[in-house]
Amino acid sequence: MLSRVALRSTSRLTTRAFSTTQARHTKVAVLGAGGGIGQPLSLLLKSDPLVTSLSLYDIRGAPGVAADVGHVDTGSEVVGYAADGLDAALDGVEVVVIPAGVPRKPGMTRDDLFKTNASIVCDLAKAVAKNAPKAHILVISNPVNSTVPIVARTLQQAGVYDPAKLFGITTLDVVRASRFLAGIANTDPIKTSVTVVGGHSGVTIVPLISQSPAGNAVKLGSEEWKALVHRIQYGGDEVVKAKDGAGSATLSMAYAAAKFANKLLRALKGETGVVTPTFVESPLFKKEGIDFFASNVELGPNGVAKIHELGKLSPEEQELVNAALPELKKNIEKGYEFVASN
Ligand code: NAI
Repeated sequence: MLSRVALRSTSRLTTRAFSTTQARHTKVAVLGAGGGIGQPLSLLLKSDPLVTSLSLYDIRGAPGVAADVGHVDTGSEVVGYAADGLDAALDGVEVVVIPAGVPRKPGMTRDDLFKTNASIVCDLAKAVAKNAPKAHILVISNPVNSTVPIVARTLQQAGVYDPAKLFGITTLDVVRASRFLAGIANTDPIKTSVTVVGGHSGVTIVPLISQSPAGNAVKLGSEEWKALVHRIQYGGDEVVKAKDGAGSATLSMAYAAAKFANKLLRALKGETGVVTPTFVESPLFKKEGIDFFASNVELGPNGVAKIHELGKLSPEEQELVNAALPELKKNIEKGYEFVASN
């Protein structure tokens, strides 16, 4: 039975006040809202004034999360849906964030999650195609390099694929790169931007330190640069190890996803100049047979507005890109093969 918890914490007066300032209604759904990422992400989205309605779905626990975050004193309405409520959860949704799936345990790579998460993501994409075919889809579930192609092919089969509206969330790599570089350069992390390109696992994560003013100013030696790149590429392992079997990054991931969602919502509302790295269908390496690639992307009212070139790379960064390409190709093809054989 559908368990629905509708929580309207605003009075009629405050609702009217909000409707004048928020001319555009933005309904966001979180699929996997009961999980380690889903819960704090739901809280952060509830705190975002650009979200006017929040739809929380999970095979377990979402009505409880909705009841809890629904008490936060922001204007958005929160509704939680139980296992049989997926279709209803997606009704009228403009942005769908997907953190559903299993996380890594120590010793696992993101690719080890493929078997379980591929089918979860595929089923959720089918439901989005049916109920919210025009929604923007933000994929967090790993392995992102494969789950994004799975969503693309699934939407294609349903005849509703729009490449401008599908994003693999690589923001945590960007957040980590900023934080780790700022720690070395002694700068404010929030102002220490680093573009991270490629994909979202190990060698496919390519931070372009040479393009960062802080990276240039600090003049890293070769060994220091290598250590920083390695930490950015394998930062997730630090968390998996420290959590000792209890999962992977959840809090920093929720922060990163909320940050990306806020940028997208700002662009959807008409703000210009919103640029951030994300894993999208991209022309950059299509000739090499690689359909998806993360690079700086300008977001606009319809999602992807412009995909930026990589820009000037140091020889070492070019080597990192070269090393990323074959792995990315393999990961993307694995996603395609999954959809073809299911
Ligand atoms: P978790 O196990 O704490 O939560 C996952 C949630 O998904 C659970 O509540 C579960 O009930 C739910 N779920 C499972 N099947 C579902 C379905 N068919 N429909 C709806 N919900 C379903 O895992 P956690 O830590 O939240 O991680 C989630 C995913 O995010 C993992 O695949 C993990 O690898 C990935 N991740 C991605 C990152 C990125 O940078 N893109 C960073 C960290 C994690």
